[in-house]
Amino acid sequence: MEIKTVGVLGCGLMGSGIAQVCAAAGYKTIVREVDETFLNKGLGRIRKFLDEGVAKGKVTADARDTTIGNLSGSTTFDALKDCDLIIEAIIEDLEEKQQTYTALEKIVNDHAIFVSNTSSLCITELAATTMRPDRFGGLHFFNPVPLMKLVEVVRTILTDEAAVKAVTEWTRAVGKTPVQVKDSTAFIVNRLLVPYLLDAVRVYEGGLATLEDIDTAMKLGCGYPMGPFTLLDLVGLDTAMYVAEVMFEEFREPRYAPPPLLKRMVMAGQLGRKTGRGFYTYEGK
Ligand code: 3HC
Repeated sequence: MEIKTVGVLGCGLMGSGIAQVCAAAGYKTIVREVDETFLNKGLGRIRKFLDEGVAKGKVTADARDTTIGNLSGSTTFDALKDCDLIIEAIIEDLEEKQQTYTALEKIVNDHAIFVSNTSSLCITELAATTMRPDRFGGLHFFNPVPLMKLVEVVRTILTDEAAVKAVTEWTRAVGKTPVQVKDSTAFIVNRLLVPYLLDAVRVYEGGLATLEDIDTAMKLGCGYPMGPFTLLDLVGLDTAMYVAEVMFEEFREPRYAPPPLLKRMVMAGQLGRKTGRGFYTYEGK
C-alpha cells in the first residue's frame, strides 16, 4: 500500500491546508472542488500562506515553488483516478459525503485508501456505505493545518491494519505526529476541547469576566497558545456548535449542549474570523 499520489476532496480551510502539507512533503497532490470559484479561492489561500512563509523566512522560494508544482486543482472526480490515498474534507453532511464516495469509487483503483477529515461524523457509518470499509478510516487534522503538528488516525472495527499502517506512515512523512484513536464521537481532542470552549462561553454569558480577561487568564494561567474566544473565532462558531450538537446527541450530557449565546451568535452569522466577526471583530484585518 505505497502512497505516491494523493487526492484531496474540498479546498476550504482544512482541505487547502491538507493539500498544502501533502504537496510540500513531495507528494503529487490533486485537490478537487465543486466549482472554479471555490477552487481558486482555496488555491489562493495556499499561495498566500506560502508567500507569507517566504516573507517570514520560514519557507524558501524554491520550496514554495516545488510545493505549487506538486499541486494541481480540478473540478472533476476523474482527475483523482490514480490516487493511492483520498482525503475527504468537504462539508459535514453525511449524504453529501456518501454521494462523493460513491462517485469516486467508480473511478479509483481498488487499492486506494479513503479517509475522512470529519471532526464529528461517525467514521463507521461513512465506511459502511462504501465498497471499501476495510480501506476506510479517519485522518483528523487541526486548524491551521500547516502549523498544527497533530493528526488523529481513526480506525473502525472494519479498518484493515495495513491501511492504518499506510496512513500512519503517510502522516509522519508529511511532518505530522499521529495518534491512534478508535472511532468514537469527537475522538480525543474535540472530546476534551469542546466542553472547555462551551464552558468558556457559559462563564462569559454568566458575567464572570470580560472576553479579554478570560482569554488572558487561560493563556497566561495555563500556557495555552490562545484563549478560548480567540480559538473559537479561529475554529468557527458554527463548526464548534455543530461538533457540540453531535456530541450532545451522542452522549446526552448537558456539558456538551451548546450554550444559548453560542447558538444566537451562529444564527446572527457571527461565525468568527471567516465572517469578520465572532467574539472579536476582524474587519479590515
Ligand atoms: N509559513 C510558515 N510558517 C509560518 C507561517 C507561514 N505562513 N505563519 C506562521 N508561521 C510560523 C511562525 O513563524 C512561527 O514559527 P516559530 O514557532 O518557529 O517562531 C509559528 O508558525 C507560529 O506562528 P505565529 O508566531 O505567527 O503565531 P502564534 O505563535 O500565535 O501561533 C498558532 C499561531 C499556531 C495558531 C497558535 O496560536 C496555536 O497553536 N493556537 C491554537 C490553535 C488550535 O488549538 N487549533 C486546534 C483547533 S481545534 C480543531 O482544529 C479541530 C476541529 O475539528 C474543530
